[in-house]
Amino acid sequence: MAVRLDGQVALVTGAGRGLGRAYAIDLAKHGAKVIVNDFGGSVSGEGNDDSPAQQVVNEIKAAGGEAIANPGDVGSYEDCYNMVKQAMDTWGRLDAVVANAGILRDLALHNMSENDWDLVVRVHLKQCYNLIHHSWPVFRQQAYGRVVMATSSSGLVGNFGQGNYGAAKAGMYGLMNVAKIEGEKYNIMVNLISPGAQTRMTENLGGRDPNDPERAVVMAPDHVAPAVTYLASPQCNESGICINASGGRYSRSAIVLTKGVQYDPHSFKDADWFEANFQQITDLEGSYAPWTFQLTRDQHNEALKAAGKPASRA
Ligand SMILES: NC(=O)c1ccc[n+]([C@@H]2O[C@H](COP(=O)([O-])OP(=O)(O)OC[C@H]3O[C@@H](n4cnc5c(N)ncnc54)[C@H](O)[C@@H]3O)[C@@H](O)[C@H]2O)c1
Repeated sequence: MAVRLDGQVALVTGAGRGLGRAYAIDLAKHGAKVIVNDFGGSVSGEGNDDSPAQQVVNEIKAAGGEAIANPGDVGSYEDCYNMVKQAMDTWGRLDAVVANAGILRDLALHNMSENDWDLVVRVHLKQCYNLIHHSWPVFRQQAYGRVVMATSSSGLVGNFGQGNYGAAKAGMYGLMNVAKIEGEKYNIMVNLISPGAQTRMTENLGGRDPNDPERAVVMAPDHVAPAVTYLASPQCNESGICINASGGRYSRSAIVLTKGVQYDPHSFKDADWFEANFQQITDLEGSYAPWTFQLTRDQHNEALKAAGKPASRA
């Protein structure tokens, strides 16, 4: 089925540069009217500049699409309210939110100041609360909504010096897990993208050459955008999925439950028993990604099918 967002409105945060810019342009190519949010700060979140967002708006319009700029700060509750309001005031609807804006304040945990912790968690994780909270009434009213949040392998598996960033990015996984349940009844699908791309945020990492032409192609944000466009589209009936996208490879990250060990809980076990059974308790063989703690995704999909609703393929 062709992925199309004709007549729909998408809000993309941090869309003045890098990955967000690629998402906004691709969503517009697929028919969406786009709110291009970006406050135009540095990688560490300092300063502001309206021009990156406006340039992306100009690019979308030059290609025949529709877009407007928004200079708000995603960490601000009020600014996120105004992003949703701008969509409603301009086009009378909001269908998809891509929470992508981000900054870095990398420091080992013992060197990380409270301010570096607070700011990074505010920009990444509170952004997602702000946007979900404010778009939810619109989504519930129209019984339709799509949310894509930008997580990171730093949170899913870890990376030295990114305690603030990793915690905020992994927090999005927990937020997704709750929002997928709260949104289901209203046809609101909530998913994660874990990207890898050459942008100003990553171009100098690990001694990379920012001018390497090969890297500019194979690690282009355009390799990530198709997944975001799909997850933000009406064709997506998936919720609670985390897609990794980088350098021409797509895959999925998931929190899984192992089969574990069941004992008769009428009697108690001690730490020696736990130690003796540790390997079997933690063995990933036969593990599965649940929908909730009570339901496997398969059971949940079967229940959706039985109710005549579109089920996930994951
Ligand atoms: N590039 C990668 O490989 C990579 C890997 C994992 C995750 N990510 C995530 O993807 C997202 C995009 O990253 P990128 O690589 O394109 O970085 P980027 O620095 O090129 O773009 C981020 C944009 O967000 C904007 N922004 C920052 N704080 C904002 C705020 N408070 N309000 C509004 N706009 C704000 C910036 O002005 C910038 O234009 C980020 O959330 C990042 O953490 C990127």
